[in-house]
Amino acid sequence: MTTTRFLTGITTSGTPHLGNYVGSIRPAVRASRTPGVESFYFLADYHALIKIDEPARIQRSTLEIAASWLAAGLDPERVTFYRQSDVPEIPELTWFLTCVTGKGVLNRAHAYKASVDKNTAAGVDPDSDVTAGLFMYPVLMGADILMFNAHKVPVGRDQIQHIEMARDMASSFNHRYGAHFVPPEAVIEETVATLPGLDGRKMSKSYDNTIPLFASREQLKKLIAGIVTDSRAPGEPKETEGSALFQIYQAFATAEETAALREAYAKGIAWGDAKQILLDRIDEEISPMRSRYQHLIDHPEEVEALLLAGAKKARAIATPFMATLRHAVGLRPLTAGPTQTKTKAAKSSAASFKQYREKDGKFYFKLADAKGAVLLQSRGLDSPQQAGKSIQLLQQQGEAALRDLQDQLEPIEDQPALAAALASICATQNI
Ligand code: TRP
Repeated sequence: MTTTRFLTGITTSGTPHLGNYVGSIRPAVRASRTPGVESFYFLADYHALIKIDEPARIQRSTLEIAASWLAAGLDPERVTFYRQSDVPEIPELTWFLTCVTGKGVLNRAHAYKASVDKNTAAGVDPDSDVTAGLFMYPVLMGADILMFNAHKVPVGRDQIQHIEMARDMASSFNHRYGAHFVPPEAVIEETVATLPGLDGRKMSKSYDNTIPLFASREQLKKLIAGIVTDSRAPGEPKETEGSALFQIYQAFATAEETAALREAYAKGIAWGDAKQILLDRIDEEISPMRSRYQHLIDHPEEVEALLLAGAKKARAIATPFMATLRHAVGLRPLTAGPTQTKTKAAKSSAASFKQYREKDGKFYFKLADAKGAVLLQSRGLDSPQQAGKSIQLLQQQGEAALRDLQDQLEPIEDQPALAAALASICATQNI
């Protein structure tokens, strides 16, 4: 079975609230349990530096977000859960991507453009108070994604442009240096409602209308008491449409429970009673996680150890991949084989695929270099079509296709040689 690789980052710049839980933590934890899915979740603390210059806040937010995800059921054995700054290959890849990204593309990034527009409107220098970090934000994000060749990236709508930019970076790099990167796709969770906050607008830190995910029951009660309602008295029928209280309830309740509250609204439930029902329902879901959260907050050493173990898993992929990329761009030992430029690649490589049938009746393919050394060997396949399709995929996508084909292949012995051969085959295909 081929696995789909999901990856998403969480900027460590705040305390998780119910909106984050409903919109991102809960669906991600559920998705990570789906068979055939390989998940990467990371704390984007390099990204946080762009917005925040209070060291203690970065550190605290990293702990709170990690503890929240773990308390919500993320299983670090099953997924790769790490901190961005524990993977030094990411900033290195950021530089490689910086060198293949048009400055004009970054000029058009929404977040940067918004700052420039604001400055222009205020009549000050367009780049006033804009750091190069903000400008480079999309490239760092591209490196996060491409480092692990993620297929799918679950994000909010505001991030779609960044995923498109990552696709562009992948193809610019592949065009110059061979097919190393898989173009990622954004996944927008249409079914996940955005949660309204206390004032009825979208729950967001910037509106100061949030309910912290791990508020105590007491705090939760106080905050829920502050949710805006209209002035209808007990006994008067109430509208569910546009009711923040109802929408928040819906995000936690089953279909039957939601129907029951709808009926209670129609029958004129008192706002105080509706708030009590909401409090009980949220607390029912969150309270089992609260003690785990508190435990982790009180034992940062446990979270630290889990994150370092996650970084080790991440680097088991990132370190060899970065070595391949360094080689591909020409940052390599002076004694390494002859330089292959894109146009010369075809002639110098001369590695080729062969397709054949063995006595066992199965169909095989292999990739051998000019001297006949086998770089890639398939297992026995049921049909020649299957072998042909796999060869075609390798010719078109190069190394990037290996992961999807891993079930068909014998273990690879000389990864750098194979990568180089595939890159040059791919380059000739794409000329
Ligand atoms: N920019 C994302 C956000 O603000 C966070 C992020 C950083 C991210 N790197 C990423 C998301 C890579 C997905 C993939 O939400």
